[in-house]
Amino acid sequence: MRQFIFKRPAYIVTFIVFLFHFSLPAQTIKTNEAIEARVNDLLRKMTLEEKVGQMNQYNGFWEVTGPAPKEGTAKQKYDHLRKGMVGAVLNVKGTENVRRLQEIAVKETRLGIPLLFGYDVIHGQKTMFPIPLGEAASWDLGAIEGSARIAAIEASAMGINWTFAPMVDITRDARWGRVMEGAGEDPYLGSKIGVARIKGFQGNDLSANNTIAATAKHFAGYGFAEAGRDYNTVDVGTSTLYNIILPPFKAAVDNNVQTVMNSFNVLNGIPATGNKFLQRDVLKGDWKFNGFIVSDWGSGIEMIDHGFANDLKEVAELSARAGSDMDMESYAYVTHLKELVESGKVDMSLIDDAVKRILRVKFQLGLFDDPYRYCDAVREKELIYHPDHLAAALEMAKRSIVLLKNSNTTSQGSQLLPLKKDQQKIAVIGALADDKNSALGSWRIGSDDNSAVSVLEGIKKYSANIKYAKGADLVIGKTDFINEVKINETDKSEFKAAVQVARNSDVVIMVLGEHGFQTGEGRSRTKLDLPGVQQQLLEEVYKVNKKIILVLMNGRPLAITWADKYIPAIVEAWQPGSQCGNAIAQVLFGDYNPAGKLPMTFPRSVGQVPLYYNHYNTGRPGPKSEVFWSHYSDESNKPLYPFGYGLSYTNFTYSNLIINDADPSNIKVRVTVTNIGKRAGEEVAQLYITDKMASIVRPVKELKGFKKFFLQPGEAIEVEFILRDTELGFFDNNGKFVTEPGEFVVMVGTNSQEGISGMFARK
Ligand code: NOJ
Repeated sequence: MRQFIFKRPAYIVTFIVFLFHFSLPAQTIKTNEAIEARVNDLLRKMTLEEKVGQMNQYNGFWEVTGPAPKEGTAKQKYDHLRKGMVGAVLNVKGTENVRRLQEIAVKETRLGIPLLFGYDVIHGQKTMFPIPLGEAASWDLGAIEGSARIAAIEASAMGINWTFAPMVDITRDARWGRVMEGAGEDPYLGSKIGVARIKGFQGNDLSANNTIAATAKHFAGYGFAEAGRDYNTVDVGTSTLYNIILPPFKAAVDNNVQTVMNSFNVLNGIPATGNKFLQRDVLKGDWKFNGFIVSDWGSGIEMIDHGFANDLKEVAELSARAGSDMDMESYAYVTHLKELVESGKVDMSLIDDAVKRILRVKFQLGLFDDPYRYCDAVREKELIYHPDHLAAALEMAKRSIVLLKNSNTTSQGSQLLPLKKDQQKIAVIGALADDKNSALGSWRIGSDDNSAVSVLEGIKKYSANIKYAKGADLVIGKTDFINEVKINETDKSEFKAAVQVARNSDVVIMVLGEHGFQTGEGRSRTKLDLPGVQQQLLEEVYKVNKKIILVLMNGRPLAITWADKYIPAIVEAWQPGSQCGNAIAQVLFGDYNPAGKLPMTFPRSVGQVPLYYNHYNTGRPGPKSEVFWSHYSDESNKPLYPFGYGLSYTNFTYSNLIINDADPSNIKVRVTVTNIGKRAGEEVAQLYITDKMASIVRPVKELKGFKKFFLQPGEAIEVEFILRDTELGFFDNNGKFVTEPGEFVVMVGTNSQEGISGMFARK
């Protein structure tokens, strides 16, 4: 029998070594005079057609990545490339293909301007890390930066020099499929995580051959699609825009993000791609962003369907005027921009500004010094799936896991988790348990299918006494370009076998949730239950064995209210990436004490959505006994699991809250956290403020600080938070940041609903 020993040094030391190895000091990429001089010099030599070419980005549907979507497209793209009418491409795979295209740009065009190679490097390239929402649950900025660093190392080794990440859209609606790609519902946490990812991708020297340009996307409001339906209308008030949606973008710009992607949605009546207020006034004006803006895929041409532009020519005019610098796959600039400039409809200065921005990024990446710096096939071979990367992916996956429930199953108070390594009979049930693909998530175009360690493989390393049954199968469909996989919605023929193995086992591990391809872009849902027949399967198994550990693998919050009521142990594992099974097994068998905290509220019912912790109060908050207060008649207002929530195999208490408000611009909050349990573990102490009264109403609570630390049993730590104007102020409805005097409540605790509070008055 292997003994349970939780040693801090074992995993923390490895991880620190890994971070030390990969993390770089705060970056110092700045526009410097030498680069500006080279940009201006090149610009002077360019014809109008060549300038417009730089503003054009094509998807790599040359024969190198697959068939052209339309007949003739590949040939036209090649022709354009040879004429210097392409500035960037996306989705070109592998150093050989990158080199071939780069050679055309460098050797065959008049000025030899190298191409940018963009790619959706979202949570890993070959080695896959957990989906971004999962990583966000770690609240571990160093680990998240390390994950992006490794993604950049592998992607750059494969020829890529630009990622379309991080997505910093704040999301409050779990129905929206892309919640998996962001950092959840909170702008404070979202800003910190966005910056960590940018630092990881870009490092401190963008011209190094293992750093890539990052993209803050989607500017702006994409996460607020009405009813959670992807690409849908966004209509938000100024307070939400300035205080919730924009802060992570501002933080990205302040941390030198090289590019920003606009979005598909209409924001308050104006499509983002044609939105001058967002792009020219806020981003390039107020915030002085000096990188470039890329459109989203076809977001220009979609302005015709939005009813904002008559035709492609108008698309080009409106986008260029509004400040969208590069056109991804709308063919608008390459077709019409030259003519628009010649006819005086678009000013040449706007073109020059856009081209300078694009060239600046190319110079910063060092592409003019060595256009093939990312095309080293030996490096590619050496670095992808490097053992250090897989070790880091395992660490990150463990850090992402959130323990949602671990209740006592006996009168002696014993919990199901962690499982004893004593060869008790274990049933493993669920199609996702034996699957090596879903764990990679839906944004995994660079990785290899079926390359994850399955949950079953992970668990088998701990026990030989395992019986597996699918219970409900996967249904696999595939269009030409897109994978479609669902959990079976009708077939219950495998239930019998599952119930049988459950009946004959001491404990049951049920691995249920959403397949990776049931979340992500274009995968919105109207329900937040366990899809397909999984809920029925869970209930059938429960009838014969109540000792169930439910392992959830999903890309969004789920309303698992029945499971919360009946199932004794629930573990949220998200889609954990390449090391899925190993990470989950280490948590289940206690070799890792989970410490993840939810970055997004889990609702009790889909009807409560959007449900988020930092909402405003109403004039009728209740709870009251009569009818006329803000509530539902069939469900509580409360979430199932609140923002910031997550358990551990140990317990922490909070005491001694001390507030020192002597200096109003530097308020110190201290609190003591003690590990009162029997195991060592990590905790994330979270600080929330409530601005009790202000000139515009403020949320009931707002996260303004967090600290993650490790405590041995019995050990205590004093944690200090500083509150400055940046934490205590807010944006008024004119977008001006203001701080006001008044009373604030401070709460420090283990999640957004549980903690100890104090007050101070800001003079
Ligand atoms: C559309 C997505 O919205 C965007 O995030 C992505 O980067 C582009 N497609 C390119 O794949």
